[in-house]
Amino acid sequence: MIPSVLPDLARAEALVAERGIALGKPLHLLAETTSTNDEAKRGAKAGAPNGALWVAESQTAGRGRQGRGWVSPRGENLLFSVLVRIACAPARLPPLALVAGLAARDAVARAVPRRDVRIKWPNDVVVDGKKIAGVLVEATLQGSLVEALVVGIGINVHTREFPEDIAARATSIALAADGSDPPDRAEVLADVLTGLDRDLGLVAARGLGLVHARLTNADALRREGVTSEAGAGVAEGIDLEGRLLVRNEGGILARWGAGEVHLGRATTAPRS
Ligand code: BTN
Repeated sequence: MIPSVLPDLARAEALVAERGIALGKPLHLLAETTSTNDEAKRGAKAGAPNGALWVAESQTAGRGRQGRGWVSPRGENLLFSVLVRIACAPARLPPLALVAGLAARDAVARAVPRRDVRIKWPNDVVVDGKKIAGVLVEATLQGSLVEALVVGIGINVHTREFPEDIAARATSIALAADGSDPPDRAEVLADVLTGLDRDLGLVAARGLGLVHARLTNADALRREGVTSEAGAGVAEGIDLEGRLLVRNEGGILARWGAGEVHLGRATTAPRS
């Protein structure tokens, strides 16, 4: 009989305890759910503590940013959401979402040390331009303040064949590892939690400054031509509010706050 949660993932609870990571407790390991973000949001409402974690082998309604879905074959990848009880102003949300991307990026980079792993703003993790992980941060508000974050992360670990519509732009740790075996999914999960644990509180309290150099080093868009609904130009980095800096053809520096960004130069005249 196939176990509902595979042994490499079942190690996660022990690993979180062994490494003394504050996030990841209690850990709910699920064979299937609609979306781990749904589980964490329900948990948030029901009073689950800071650090509570939901990990699933399969999602029936996994979701991504911009209303997209997130599809992952059962038992192959990492699908999880952690509840972080941080009180902060909504303006801190974009920086915190970037930090979540950085934690996922660092964990993937550790799993594939010979590859150049980068962040495509705001928080896609990419290897050679192909997406290996995605982050969906959802916030719970109390009045006008954020009281909790649900940080949902999907990391492609073992998948080697992707559906035709995304095959050209998706990859996994197994594919990027150049023949070596991927680490246990629990190891990758523990690495992400360690990064979140270290940086989320810091950035909520003091802003992006302390992680900004790391973000800049990992920025996949820096000096690249980019387009979005906001216009087109050349990306010049990320500001301390988490916005993408884009210099348009007229030389004006714009700050893009949200939306989907594509690599490549505009075919039409950019708007300033
Ligand atoms: C994106 O790249 O658009 C974000 C993808 C986020 C997917 C993860 S998988 C675990 C968690 N549960 C979800 O439904 N979504 C996030």
